[in-house]
Amino acid sequence: MKVVLVGNGAREHIIAEKLAQGCELYALMSKKNPAIAQLSREFWLCDIENPGEVASAIRGKDFDLAFSSPDATLEAGISDVFEEQGVLVASPSREASRIEWDKGFMRSLMARHRIKGLPRHEVVERVEDALMVVREYGSVAIKPLGLTGGKGVKVSGDHFDTVDEKAGYAQALIKKDGKVLIEEKLVGEEFTFQAFSDGSRIAMMPPVQDHKRAYEGDSGPNTGGMGSYSTGRNLPFLNDSDLEDAKSILRGTIHAMKKEGTPFKGILYGQFMATPDGIKVVEFNARFGDPEAMNVLSLLQGSLVDTFISMAEGQINPPAFSDESTVVKYLVPEGYPESPKKDAEVGVDSLGLENAGARLYYASVYEQNGKIMTTGSRAFGVLGKAATIEEAEAVAEKGCAFVSGPVWHRRDIGTGELIDKRISNMKSLRES
Ligand code: GLY
Repeated sequence: MKVVLVGNGAREHIIAEKLAQGCELYALMSKKNPAIAQLSREFWLCDIENPGEVASAIRGKDFDLAFSSPDATLEAGISDVFEEQGVLVASPSREASRIEWDKGFMRSLMARHRIKGLPRHEVVERVEDALMVVREYGSVAIKPLGLTGGKGVKVSGDHFDTVDEKAGYAQALIKKDGKVLIEEKLVGEEFTFQAFSDGSRIAMMPPVQDHKRAYEGDSGPNTGGMGSYSTGRNLPFLNDSDLEDAKSILRGTIHAMKKEGTPFKGILYGQFMATPDGIKVVEFNARFGDPEAMNVLSLLQGSLVDTFISMAEGQINPPAFSDESTVVKYLVPEGYPESPKKDAEVGVDSLGLENAGARLYYASVYEQNGKIMTTGSRAFGVLGKAATIEEAEAVAEKGCAFVSGPVWHRRDIGTGELIDKRISNMKSLRES
């Protein structure tokens, strides 16, 4: 079986690791990820967001299955390029992935099909309308409609307080994109719930909680994600009915996409907020979360290749997951995210990591003269997996010590102290 993977981050590293266990793996990358290169029979470097370049790179290669992973490649229509060349594809088409790259479409799809969890929202094109909406809503989330690597959303309280500040940001987005999405601010605890979908049905993965803010105690600017944890079948601050509600929202969304003639085959990522008024949808993504992919795929039992084939063939075969706990901590360059140290050498002690029981996933690093160098983005994901969350956190923390050089990480992710804060926050919101 010849399987080709598109992408080169830590998320793609773990996808590659799982796929390579059951196939002959090939990779298309924009920059060489040394770990993915090692797992692949052959790899090619090209602009993976350029359909023409990808089409030339894969012509005549006779792949059996393709998976295009990063959001921007999905928007660029890379899954469609494989489909056009007769390859079975396990990632969504450009049209289906619109659920991620056009937040206005995502909200209107939810409204058209009466999908639960839809917050109050408006897409506006005029500054006067934006001003009216921010005045009426009070606390808001202001969102660009397109892809921003998780960094474009600003919310009342965290990023602005006054009407002028809100209107100013909305105006800047209207100037840039022609329109902006303004929503009521959701208050609660966020979680990620991801599903494999064959276009009609879904198979769930364990829920995860990501940490977007750069600094400990959930402060500082937003990032692509500093780390995440999972605790088996559910998260400690959620009820089983919360997960059932989130699952039914994902299922309803898959049905809606099918009804509209754009069936969604691939990974549907739900970013949810558990609020006192029930589960709300923050956003959908058309791919695995990063870092969440490392949490869930490390728990996957059986073959990811088989799951992808069943998904691509429209007959999903739900995979099993072990119910251990996982913690992922991202090592990022000094100064990240605002002024990250680029092109700095980092050292990896593989034996130390192995003895600590931790796994290291290569994100945005490159090789030069046999040395590993930072690029300015997140450098490595360090994964701890164990029977309990306390043990998983300790393994991840120990693992981080075996990477040397100018990198740092959030020590609080997965700790009892931070998780207790989530539990008591949710409890007091539910009681209010
Ligand atoms: N962890 C957030 C994302 O992948 O979008």
